[in-house]
Amino acid sequence: NTSLKFGHTHSFKGSTFFSLYCSPGRNLIRFSNHNVRNTTTLLLSQDGDMLYVGARDSMALKLNHSVIFFQLDWSPPDKDLEQCSMKGKKMADCPNFIRVLQFLNTTHLYACGTFAFSPRCIYIVSCFHCLKPDEGRGRCPYDPYQRNTAIIVDGELYTGTVADYRGNRPVISRYLSEGSRVDLKLDDTLGWLEDPTFIRSTFLPDEGKIYFFFSEVGREYDFIDKFIVSRISQICTSDVGGQRTLQRRWTTFAKAQLLCQADNELPYNVIQDIDTLLPADGAPEDDTLFYGIFTSQWSVNSGRSAVCSFRLTDIKSVFTGNYKVLNRDTLQWRAWVQEKVANPGECGLHNASDNVLRFVKENFLADESVRPVGRSLTMVSAEHNYTHLAVQRVQAANSRHYTVLFLLTESGYLHKAVLLQNGAHIIEEVQVFEQPQPIKSLKLSIPKGVIYVGTSEGVVKVPTANCSFYWTCAQCVLARDPFCHWDPVSRTCVIVSKIPTTLGQDIDGGNVEEACNSVSLTPSCPAGELVSVSLNEVIRIQCPAASQLSQQVWERPNSRLSSDLYLFLEDGSLSFVATPATLGHYLCLSFENGYQQTMAIYHVKQKSSPMTQSPTRFPRPQTYPIPTTQAVSRHGPELHTSFAKGPCYLRELVVVSVLLVICLSLLITMVLYALRQRCRSRTAPQAGTANRDSDRRTPVEQEALSGNNILSKHNGQALHSGHVSGLFCNGTLTGPNGHLPNTPSEES
Ligand SMILES: *[C@@H]1O[C@H](CO)[C@@H](O)[C@H](O)[C@H]1NC(C)=O
Ligand SMILES: *[C@@H]1O[C@H](CO)[C@@H](O)[C@H](O)[C@H]1NC(C)=O
Ligand SMILES: *[C@@H]1O[C@H](CO)[C@@H](O)[C@H](O)[C@H]1NC(C)=O
Ligand SMILES: *[C@@H]1O[C@H](CO)[C@@H](O)[C@H](O)[C@H]1NC(C)=O
Repeated sequence: NTSLKFGHTHSFKGSTFFSLYCSPGRNLIRFSNHNVRNTTTLLLSQDGDMLYVGARDSMALKLNHSVIFFQLDWSPPDKDLEQCSMKGKKMADCPNFIRVLQFLNTTHLYACGTFAFSPRCIYIVSCFHCLKPDEGRGRCPYDPYQRNTAIIVDGELYTGTVADYRGNRPVISRYLSEGSRVDLKLDDTLGWLEDPTFIRSTFLPDEGKIYFFFSEVGREYDFIDKFIVSRISQICTSDVGGQRTLQRRWTTFAKAQLLCQADNELPYNVIQDIDTLLPADGAPEDDTLFYGIFTSQWSVNSGRSAVCSFRLTDIKSVFTGNYKVLNRDTLQWRAWVQEKVANPGECGLHNASDNVLRFVKENFLADESVRPVGRSLTMVSAEHNYTHLAVQRVQAANSRHYTVLFLLTESGYLHKAVLLQNGAHIIEEVQVFEQPQPIKSLKLSIPKGVIYVGTSEGVVKVPTANCSFYWTCAQCVLARDPFCHWDPVSRTCVIVSKIPTTLGQDIDGGNVEEACNSVSLTPSCPAGELVSVSLNEVIRIQCPAASQLSQQVWERPNSRLSSDLYLFLEDGSLSFVATPATLGHYLCLSFENGYQQTMAIYHVKQKSSPMTQSPTRFPRPQTYPIPTTQAVSRHGPELHTSFAKGPCYLRELVVVSVLLVICLSLLITMVLYALRQRCRSRTAPQAGTANRDSDRRTPVEQEALSGNNILSKHNGQALHSGHVSGLFCNGTLTGPNGHLPNTPSEES
C-alpha cells in the first residue's frame, strides 16, 4: 500500500486547452490537458453536469460549462515501473491506465487501474480528496490493451476481466459485497468462458439481472477452427452462491449466442459495442432493446459492419429454453436430452438442493441463439467500420418516437442515423478527428444533448444536433433529423419543442412540399452576392452543400456551362476567367430527394474601372493559381499591372476603345433581339428548349440573353443593379409557370 502515490489534488485553471475543429456546421470542443492523456474511461453524472475522465496516471473531473478541471494524479512509483519493464513490458504500457470508474454511492467513486501490470483500485470522495486504496486483482486487467467491463450496482462491483498477469484467466465476478452477501466469481468449470473479449455490461432493475456482452471462441462449433461468437450472459444480483455446491460461485450464470445475421449470409459474428435502449414511458421492460455493432471474422466482409438490435423478450425466452450440455469425454456440446431438473439462469437458487445446483453448473449454454429483431440486420455499412455506438429515442415534432443511432467509425467520423421503416437514414456525418484515432469510449448525455468521445489525445464534445445549420425550411425537412423542425414563426430550424405539430418536419418521407407548404413557404433564399471583377481575373465562387446526400449543380440562366471555360472543383465551387462571355448570373442548385433548392446566387459584374483591361487577352484558367478565398481574388493577375504601367500600349488602347464601342453596339442589338425573343418564348412551354437554343448561340449572345435582361425582371419587380435579392427561388428559370417543378407556389 505504501507504493501508492496519490493524494495530490490539483485544481487547474487555464491549463486546459480548447480547440475547435472544423466540420461544417459543427463546432466541436476538445478538451485536453497535457496531464490527461489516454482517456480510456468516461463517467457522466446522471444530470450530465459532471464528466469524470479516467486517463493515464490520472483522473479528471470537468464541470459542465466551466473551464475548471480538477485533476488527480495516480501513478505507480518508479520502483513498480522498473519492475514492470524488467518483466519485459514496454515502458509506455507500464503507467496506470484507469479502466474502471464508477459511482459507488452518493459520496464516493470507485476506480481501478492497470498500475504497472499490477492492478489497484481506490475509493475516492467525489471531489478527489480523501482516498482509500483497495485490491485490484480480478477487477481490472493487467494489460492496458485488454478490454474489460465493470458496473457498480447497490455498492457492489460486477466485473468482467482477466484475473491474471498472463491474461488467460477470464472471470465474471462480484466484489465489495458485505454482510450476508459474499463476493462471487465463476466456477472453474470447463467452458464457462472461452478466451472472451468483454464489451459492456448493463443492469436491468426490474429483472434484477446484469447482462454481460462479449465475444469468445464458440467451442460448440467445433467444425470451424476458432469460430468467434458473440454472447450475452446474465447473472442475478440477488445471487449469494450455493450452500455446498457452488459455494461463493454464481448459481445464476447462463450465456447464449447473439446472432447478427441475415438469411443465407455469413454472420457478423464479432460484437464491437452495444448500447441499451430502455422502453418508452409506460411500456413494459420486456420491450428493452439492445443495439449492437458487429463485424465479421471473414475477409469477405472485412471493412464492413452491421448494426443488429435484440429485444429483451427474445433474450429471456432463449434463457428459459433448453440448454446444451458438454460431453466431458469427447469435449463436444450437444443439445439437452435428459429431464430438466431446474431452470438455469433463474434467480433465487441459493437454497436449492445440490442436485439442482449441479444441474445448473453443467447447463449454462442456451441451446437457441438470440436472433435480431425482425430476423434481419438493422443496418449494414459497406464502407465503414463502426466501433462505438450510442442510441437514443427522440420524440419528433408530431410526438412520434424515432430511434437515433450515433455511430463512430474507425476513421474518426460520427454518423447520426435515424431508423425508418425502410432502413436507416444517415442524417449527418461529423468529422470528429482529422487523423484516424482509436476511440476508447463514447458517452451520450441525453439531458445535456451532447456526446463525449474519449481517445488517446483527449475528449471531444459533440452536440447531438445543430438545427441552426439548416437555414431554409427545405433543408430543415430534408435533413430528416427528429431533433429539428422548421418554426414558421421565427423562420428558423429549431430544436423540437414539446408542443406537437405536424408542420415543418417529415422524418419518414422528407416531403418538403407538404412540410413546408403548410408553413406558408416563403422563399428563404440566399441573398445574392455581387462579385465585381476585372476582366481576365480568375474567379472562384463557392457552393455550400445542402447535405451529404445532395447533388450540386451550377447553372447560368439559359446557358450551359461548358467545361472549356469553367472549372468544376471538387468542393463544389466553380472557377473561371472573367471575360465578357462569363460575366452575369450564376446559381448553385442542390438536388436531394426530388427537391431542388438554390444554395447561392452570384452576379459577376465588371468593375467600373479605367480601361486597363484587355478583352483580347484570354488567359487559360489553369495558368493562374486559383485563389482559395471566397468569391473573388483581391489581386488581379500580373498581366494587368504590367499592362497598366507600360506606355507602349497606347496604340493598343485606342484599338481596344474602338473595339469596345463596336462590342457595345453589338450588345445593344442583342438586348433588343433578346427582348423580342423573350416575348415570343413566353408561350413556349419548356426551358429545355431554351437550353437547346442557347447551345447554338455565341457567348456574347448568351450573355446578352441571360444575365442582363431576362433575369432583371421578376413579377414586374425591377432588379436593382448590384443587388440580387431572393428572386430565383421560385425562379423563372426552370418552370414555365414561374415555379420550380417541386416548389409550391408562394400564393397557395
Ligand atoms: C451550428 O451551425 C451554425 C451555422 O452553420 C454555426 O454558426 C454554429 O457555430 C453551429 N453551432 C454549433 C454548436 O456547432
Ligand atoms: C459510500 O461508500 C464509502 C466507502 O464504502 C463509505 O465510507 C461511505 O460512508 C458511503 N457513503 C454513503 C452516503 O453511504
Ligand atoms: C434460504 O436460506 C436462508 C438460510 O440459509 C433463509 O434465511 C432464507 O429464508 C432462505 N430463502 C428461501 C427463499 O428459502
Ligand atoms: C496511449 O496513447 C498513445 C498516444 O498518445 C498511444 O500510442 C498508446 O497506444 C495509448 N496507450 C494505450 C494503452 O491505449
